[in-house]
Amino acid sequence: MVAYHISGGAPLQGTIAIHGAKNSVLPLLAAAVAVGGRCTLTNCPAIRDVDTALDILRHLGCAARRSADRVEVDASGANRTDIPARLMRRMRAAVLFLGALLTRFGRAEISLPGGCVLGERPIDLHLFGLRRMGAEVEARGERIVCTMANPQPCTIALPFPSVGATENLLLAALACPDEVNICNAALEPEIADLVLFLRACGAEIAEKGSVLRVRGGVPLTGCAYRVMPDRIEAATYLIAAAATRGDLLLTELCPEHLTAVTELLSRASCELTVGGHSLRLRCRSLRAVSPIRTAPYDGFPTDAQAPMMAAMAVAEGVSVFEETIFSDRLRHVPALRRMGAQILAAKTHAVVTGVKTLYGARAEATDLRGGAAMVIAALCAQGESVITEAEHIERGYADFVPVLQACGAAIERSN
Ligand code: UD1
Repeated sequence: MVAYHISGGAPLQGTIAIHGAKNSVLPLLAAAVAVGGRCTLTNCPAIRDVDTALDILRHLGCAARRSADRVEVDASGANRTDIPARLMRRMRAAVLFLGALLTRFGRAEISLPGGCVLGERPIDLHLFGLRRMGAEVEARGERIVCTMANPQPCTIALPFPSVGATENLLLAALACPDEVNICNAALEPEIADLVLFLRACGAEIAEKGSVLRVRGGVPLTGCAYRVMPDRIEAATYLIAAAATRGDLLLTELCPEHLTAVTELLSRASCELTVGGHSLRLRCRSLRAVSPIRTAPYDGFPTDAQAPMMAAMAVAEGVSVFEETIFSDRLRHVPALRRMGAQILAAKTHAVVTGVKTLYGARAEATDLRGGAAMVIAALCAQGESVITEAEHIERGYADFVPVLQACGAAIERSN
């Protein structure tokens, strides 16, 4: 079990170069199976979810190699269409191999994916769209077997702009020798990154507002591609700097992806300086902002909700949070309360009354972003905190402990 030992009180100060985006690199690695050739991805973060994706690729018969931030995948030798439950359980994004395998082989066998427990996380929208494209879906106990012998042109109107469903449908549509329109597609920047990658491989994809038009059946070849910066990693560090009244310069990011977060932080009295690929945040005092309502892009990201709650726990005033994307994403609240935060929570709403001081406590990282929120609270707290089950955090943040140490945080990792 990985645990972090944190002595709070030091403001975060220094410079952090933002890594490549977890939520982009995972779909790109799945897409490599659909493309079938040799792909080289740079700016890949060293996180556990990337290791899981590489394990899945190797299981499928691909050659996959990582050195530093470069990952090379040669999917030409892929020879399996099944992903075992033990790999599916390790992360939600494992489900993206479904669309990629259907394009490549017309068959895929998976089980329901794991990942953070954030409430019910069905894949009904993925399967609805795949069926519209002509896939047959059969449940065999806990396994799901999909076949798509004859992909059909179609228009799929998603009832909700699901990120994962949009990505899976994009990947499966590459097999359709005619047009597939995905309406009400998710607009997250990671979708745009997947589209750019697929275009670089030869795919014909047009975007108009929230409609993606894919003309499949064209030959695809591998490419070299640089993964976009991780906007959620950047948001987490900005929020941590605000919570600790610090002064951080973040480099190698896209500030325009973070507008919803930086707007709130400005309103909370943080001083933000925006550069071409950088953001600097200085905070002397933090005022509560309200309401904080999560929404699909370009609204406030659900992945930044828990970190923001940790910051609002030490802000002056009251803020109201509304989580609209996931049904059970306030699992960090009990841990924050144990540290002295004043939070009233029910289902998807929380009312946070800022306090002057938090106190160190022992807490279990419940999920990736909830765990990051606990670390932020611990960085503000008087005394020592121990955050256990920190493996969750390392699924999504590269070099988390050394990055924080370099910015003055008193944090140690134990195994
Ligand atoms: C992705 C991100 C995750 C982020 C989320 C929302 C990755 C690897 N993960 O997750 O970090 O928090 O987007 O921005 O990119 N839903 C259904 N049926 C479906 C699919 C989704 O009901 O078939 C629901 C989910 O349960 C959830 C909501 O739709 O309540 C949003 O899910 P979705 O956008 O699909 O998120 P993920 O792709 O799982």
